[in-house]
Amino acid sequence: MKLRLCVCVAALALLAGFLVNSCSTIPRTVYVPPEIPGATFVGNQACYECHTNYVRLFPVSPHARIYLPGVVASSGQSGCESCHGPGSKHVAVGGGRGRFIVNPGSDPATCFNCHLETHAEFRLPQHHPVLEGRMNCVQCHDPHGADIFKPAGGLAMARLNQSCAQCHREQARPFVFEHEALREGCTICHHPHGSVNAKLLLERDNNLCLKCHAQQQNAPGRIFIGKEDHTDKLRLGGCWSAGCHTAVHGSNFNPHHLY
Ligand code: HEC
Ligand code: HEC
Ligand code: HEC
Ligand code: HEC
Ligand code: HEC
Ligand code: HEC
Ligand code: HEC
Repeated sequence: MKLRLCVCVAALALLAGFLVNSCSTIPRTVYVPPEIPGATFVGNQACYECHTNYVRLFPVSPHARIYLPGVVASSGQSGCESCHGPGSKHVAVGGGRGRFIVNPGSDPATCFNCHLETHAEFRLPQHHPVLEGRMNCVQCHDPHGADIFKPAGGLAMARLNQSCAQCHREQARPFVFEHEALREGCTICHHPHGSVNAKLLLERDNNLCLKCHAQQQNAPGRIFIGKEDHTDKLRLGGCWSAGCHTAVHGSNFNPHHLY
């Protein structure tokens, strides 16, 4: 107990000066890495022997650019242990699952230490069930490799739409009449973490569609969208919620995505 306290205090003291100010998504705050009682930081090279591929790949990951004073060992970068906690005890016992090391795959608390804003997004009324433990960050993010926007262990080509398609085949499948909006990615309309709007939408109303489909007044008092006079249609309600363009993701039957 005495040892643990001592290590904690030392780690905190070393980290107290850590302020990230280069990235808008990271609030200015003191970062406290995961705790492993009695363990100290040993640096990435200490992991190389047993987890060679992760260590080799890691320098291209966005997280390799983070500099954490105190978590840096004399041997070099601090990266692995900023998520996995200090590794000395794990290394000393020869490694192993559940042995003196944190695995943030099953518990995103470590990620939320730095990504406070992301934590808040998952608390919005509509959200992917990560805090409920039904999903985790690595189903959409690869924490070790060059492309953090692909799922861990996913296909090399898997990005944005494909990563959503793992679970939402219906919306991501090919359609006879595709909606070109999807070429920009699902996130042009949906927030991937959470939203105040139903179905994780960025906007709850026509503004979602009008940012790409401008309204024009081709004749006095008449509102056109594309080639169509929408003046009377718009009185019925929202682009999709009024029962008009219900096939927002694409249609196999109608080029105007009416059904
Ligand atoms: C951004 C945080 C983060 C950093 C930095 C990080 N990891 Fe990980 N690591 C994770 C997450 C999240 C998982 C869980 C992955 C999963 O379940 O697919 C994981 C899993 C692992 C695993 C277990 C894989 C398995 O088979 O379950 C090993 C080993 C590992 N990391 C080693 C490393 C090494 C070595 C480094 C440094 C080169 C490193 N990690 C850097 C987040 C990180
Ligand atoms: C002496 C070999 C060895 C060293 C050195 C080592 N590990 Fe491991 N580690 C292992 C083994 C073996 C496993 C179990 C992997 C498995 O079963 O596939 C493991 C598992 C892990 C896991 C998954 C834990 C879990 O509960 O799922 C993580 C994360 C991890 N190591 C991170 C690290 C980090 C970070 C370092 C460097 C600080 C490191 N390891 C150094 C051998 C080692
Ligand atoms: C030690 C603090 C820290 C921890 C822990 C951490 N991150 Fe990060 N993360 C950062 C910083 C700082 C950046 C910005 C890096 C840059 O852009 O240079 C970042 C970037 C990212 C990005 C890319 C953002 C972008 O716009 O390119 C994603 C995604 C991400 N982190 C997810 C995670 C996940 C998932 C975990 C947990 C497994 C995690 N992070 C753990 C600090 C952290
Ligand atoms: C359903 C898939 C999904 C899950 C689950 C997920 N993310 Fe993301 N995340 C994304 C996508 C997609 C983006 C890119 C957003 C964009 O480009 O508009 C992103 C962006 C980010 C960013 C960059 C800043 C931002 O908000 O754009 C961070 C940081 C991040 N995620 C962290 C996390 C952490 C931490 C977790 C787990 C607690 C997590 N994400 C879980 C899909 C996901
Ligand atoms: C690992 C599986 C998984 C991945 C990957 C995934 N989702 Fe989800 N998605 C879910 C689950 C689970 C729910 C919640 C369903 C529920 O609560 O019934 C959900 C809910 C949603 C909803 C709300 C549906 C509704 O009826 O309210 C939308 C929209 C959505 N996801 C879009 C996306 C987008 C966009 C991506 C990619 C950035 C993505 N999802 C990636 C599993 C996933
Ligand atoms: C042009 C904007 C737009 C794009 C791009 C988009 N969606 Fe949607 N999505 C919507 C709208 C609008 C709804 C709500 C439909 C409703 O309530 O009838 C929705 C609903 C959903 C739902 C809830 C189920 C349903 O059909 O009501 C899921 C899941 C979903 N989208 C996933 C995705 C995925 C995955 C992608 C990328 C492959 C994607 N969306 C791209 C606009 C979009
Ligand atoms: C990212 C930009 C973007 C967004 C957002 C977007 N669209 Fe589109 N949409 C396009 C493009 C590009 C086309 C193909 C070119 C065209 O017909 O204007 C298209 C085509 C269409 C068409 C077929 C046009 C026709 O010939 O009848 C309809 C209908 C449509 N979109 C409805 C919607 C609805 C409804 C929404 C909101 C849920 C929406 N769009 C959001 C970009 C977008």
